[in-house]
Amino acid sequence: MPTPLTLGKSLTFDPPLLLAPMDGVTDVAFRGLVADVSGTGALGGSCTAFVRVSNAPTPIEILHKMLGTTCEGNSTNDSMSTPHLGLQIMGHNPSLMAETAVLAAEAGAPWVDINFGCPARKVCGHGAGSILLEDLDKLEDITRQMADACPVPVTAKIRAGSRDDTQIEEIAQRVEQAGAAGLIIHARLRIQAYSEPADWSRITRAVNAVSIPVIGNGSADTPELINQMFSQTGCAGVMIGRAALANPWVFRDWADANAGREITPRSEAEYLNWLRKYDQQMQAGGTTDHHRLGKLKQLAKAWSLAGALPETETRAALRADCDLDFYASLAKGNSS
Ligand SMILES: Cc1cc2nc3c(=O)[nH]c(=O)nc-3n(C[C@H](O)[C@H](O)[C@H](O)COP(=O)(O)O)c2cc1C
Repeated sequence: MPTPLTLGKSLTFDPPLLLAPMDGVTDVAFRGLVADVSGTGALGGSCTAFVRVSNAPTPIEILHKMLGTTCEGNSTNDSMSTPHLGLQIMGHNPSLMAETAVLAAEAGAPWVDINFGCPARKVCGHGAGSILLEDLDKLEDITRQMADACPVPVTAKIRAGSRDDTQIEEIAQRVEQAGAAGLIIHARLRIQAYSEPADWSRITRAVNAVSIPVIGNGSADTPELINQMFSQTGCAGVMIGRAALANPWVFRDWADANAGREITPRSEAEYLNWLRKYDQQMQAGGTTDHHRLGKLKQLAKAWSLAGALPETETRAALRADCDLDFYASLAKGNSS
């Protein structure tokens, strides 16, 4: 088992396995359920999807919403809150981002992450996300202002570069010199978006360039691959994104595999049960019917592509206009 990972003086992730931020996917309900099915000793932490800072610091109410906390500091889904949930900030204005980082800590985030990895054209076009990998003075300035202002550890989530990976070492070192407590590196370039493969040697290069903890990310999709990322790269932690969308039990599977327990593939009924619980959590959080159905469809589609739900019934469920029809379509597959 890899040793726990500590950010700053005392924020310890044990095990050093994190659920990645995924905009539109890892909402409060999704994160809570992943934590719930992971149980103890499997999921060390997570991070919200990005909060976009443009012309003003983000109001604290929005930060509470992202974190799933009330203004009194209570969790909105107490039974299923994610351990060590960081808040991610994306933008191009260092001082506004720093002010938002301070508010994030006030809202209860135990750490704050900076998004230097988003490849979306509309984000990069505004000078934010992974285009900042082409402007290292700005990247360093943002990191420094946030790290200086914020009372909790600040990390930077980067890609291995914008157009090429020649500057990995310099990027990592600049982030470290600017005061970041850790570095998360997605082993693809900005121009590669999500194409395969992710080149893990880039993670090794970052690990060798700095002394702050480096968290590797990119296609660590199974317990075997997670362990391989640790052993091949020497990273202090691993962050998992799309594999948790395809299989929300991936953290549990990893812990079970490492403990020598057998991993049995989940049945269709277990996936359906997960959907229903997710639905209940969204309803409890006040998600609108339309939005809820969209989220259920998103998951069903991902699970059908991963082979966990049958294709024909899922296709019918994706055409449903209401949740009753959605579940009825999927139930046909489960009963046959
Ligand atoms: C739908 C989706 C949304 C994402 N949103 C974010 C985000 O808000 N912030 C971020 O840093 N990365 C985001 N990512 C990137 C992931 O955090 C991760 O770096 C990437 O998926 C590679 O990891 P994986 O191969 O384990 O999925 C997103 C990825 C996906 C697929």
